[in-house]
Amino acid sequence: MSTVIHTKRISTRDLRAKKGGEPLVVLTAYTTPIARLLDPHVDVLLVGDSLGMVLYGMDTTLGVTLDMMIAHGQAVMRGSSLAAVVIDMPFATVQENRELAFRNAARVMAETGCTAVKIEGGREMADTIAFLVARGIPVMAHIGLKPQSVHVAGGYRAHGRIDEEAAAIHADARAVTEAGAFAVVVEGTVEPLARALTGEIAIPTIGIGASPACDGQVLVIDDVLGLFSDFTPKFVKRYANLGPDITQAVATYAAEVRARAFPAPEHCFGVAKPKG
Ligand code: KIV
Repeated sequence: MSTVIHTKRISTRDLRAKKGGEPLVVLTAYTTPIARLLDPHVDVLLVGDSLGMVLYGMDTTLGVTLDMMIAHGQAVMRGSSLAAVVIDMPFATVQENRELAFRNAARVMAETGCTAVKIEGGREMADTIAFLVARGIPVMAHIGLKPQSVHVAGGYRAHGRIDEEAAAIHADARAVTEAGAFAVVVEGTVEPLARALTGEIAIPTIGIGASPACDGQVLVIDDVLGLFSDFTPKFVKRYANLGPDITQAVATYAAEVRARAFPAPEHCFGVAKPKG
């Protein structure tokens, strides 16, 4: 297993420069302890609005608020010093107009100290992305399957199978690149399209369900660790299955408390040690 060697936090410039090189490694993180564990191994810690579903039990990401993203962003910043930290702009915080988007993104940057924000959207958000970048806010874009638009898209499904849809996603990729995004997440997109996009645009593509043709990969950490089991998309690979370990640990704790086997003398203050 190789560990990324950095001496300071990786910058958007460093990420941009990795286009076409060794694939970028991105994982979501939402808390300080998980950020600490992931930080030495990844290029980017993404505080994704997927936290609404995996941490808070929401059905979609639409109920996630800016305050939630800021609190979790601060937690991830406290637990990391090497990886770039990118924070998702949640639903309804950037779509209305570019001035509101700037105010909200500036709040995220100022209150967390993160590296950049992520905005879901292609051509429809290009003007906003350009406005933010020109005013000092680095933006990662997100095209293809856009979970904040799940109701318009008619559910979670692979994108780009039909020519019209593929052409639209191509246009989105070009638009966010021209707007100044430093990288773009490409989600739930058929392999030929992901490959073509990656070859066409000058910024790194970070795939999730978009094939190894992308310049990097991102997964949701709870999926990787087997902690989220409501559903498992085809593109997820589980590298651990911690759910059963947690169940086992908690069941043992409960049984020991009920049997007065925990706490033992070594866990207590002022209990005489047995002689001998
Ligand atoms: O919210 C999120 O975690 C994301 C990734 C899945 C790309 O947007």
